[in-house]
Amino acid sequence: MIQFELLEEDRQLFERALEFAERQVRTLTEIHPDYYPLYTQQGKWRHQGEAWTHWCDGFLPGMMWIFCKRAPAGSDKGKFWFDLAVRYTKPLEPRKFDRTVHDLGFIFLSSYYRWYRLTREPQLNDVIIQAGRTLAERYQEKGQYLSSFIAPNSLFIDIMMNVGIIFYAARETGDARLREIALRHSLTTRRYLVRGDGSTAHEGIFDLETGEFLRQSTHQGYRSDSCWSRGQSWALYGFTSVYEYTRDPRFLRTAEACADYYITQAPPDGVPPWDFNAPPSQRQLVDTSAAAIAAAGLLRLCRLLPDPVKGHFYWVTAIRILRTLCQKYLAIDDPSWEGILKGGVYHYPKGLGVNESVMWGEYFFVEALDQALRVI
Ligand code: GLY
Repeated sequence: MIQFELLEEDRQLFERALEFAERQVRTLTEIHPDYYPLYTQQGKWRHQGEAWTHWCDGFLPGMMWIFCKRAPAGSDKGKFWFDLAVRYTKPLEPRKFDRTVHDLGFIFLSSYYRWYRLTREPQLNDVIIQAGRTLAERYQEKGQYLSSFIAPNSLFIDIMMNVGIIFYAARETGDARLREIALRHSLTTRRYLVRGDGSTAHEGIFDLETGEFLRQSTHQGYRSDSCWSRGQSWALYGFTSVYEYTRDPRFLRTAEACADYYITQAPPDGVPPWDFNAPPSQRQLVDTSAAAIAAAGLLRLCRLLPDPVKGHFYWVTAIRILRTLCQKYLAIDDPSWEGILKGGVYHYPKGLGVNESVMWGEYFFVEALDQALRVI
């Protein structure tokens, strides 16, 4: 049994960061009630910037559910976060039928699933199951993958973070077809988007007539053959959670390969450039959201490994990443900044949310801090 330990100074650092995160989320809901932001512009959440795709609405209530769970049982604080989380979660329900995005895992696992875990009300579970069924409708039989929102011939690495909701729906309902779809999608992604060195491509393009894989591509990365940092973190975390659902050792090996690539290619402080292969002139531009997601993924992966030494290494790495985020990127000393974590990048080629706070970065940062603090 591996012993994971947190130094007292890290505990204090992480608790202070979580208290700051609570204050920022509360203030956001006071300044812009019932608004679901995506990324900041010069530190401000509300602006007219393009969304590109509509995938983030679960993350704000997701943080509220984490704050609610952390509050002492029966406390006013717990009730405050519960009521606010319900208020921000309920409006998402109609999206269980949303066939325009591949992000139903992001939307419902962060919100309805956390709500269901707290209360076990069956109607909440029905919402999650329906979302899983809807996502499964994106399945392309010939290529054996779930298509991205871009087009039926497009597969994204990000979908590895969403396919878990189909595994979940399959487990809850006993629907073997759903499980088969989720499994096939994960194996196809593993085969075509994960490279031999453990790096990943953002997108795969298929021939719709034959189902044949044609080439790797990208939207948010530097080049088709580069490794977009956030995609790498989605793969690390996504293959870890698929291993949790399936216990199929192929997915554990892939999660490890993705983690090892991330760790060996990132700078010593654990926060990578926005693309691992960005040219020298862009290498100072980091993506803190990629780092937060990697930390959250490593904190799950470290417990699943048969080798305790490697598991301990992943734990220590995740803590180092969180320490860097808290010490270098927290917006705590900038009263004009509305986000929690500075230095995120949404879509560099389109110039959206570059060096800003991004809602998924906030969410996975809070999730990772909560996980690290729950250890002992
Ligand atoms: N579309 C998912 C992402 O920006 O990572």
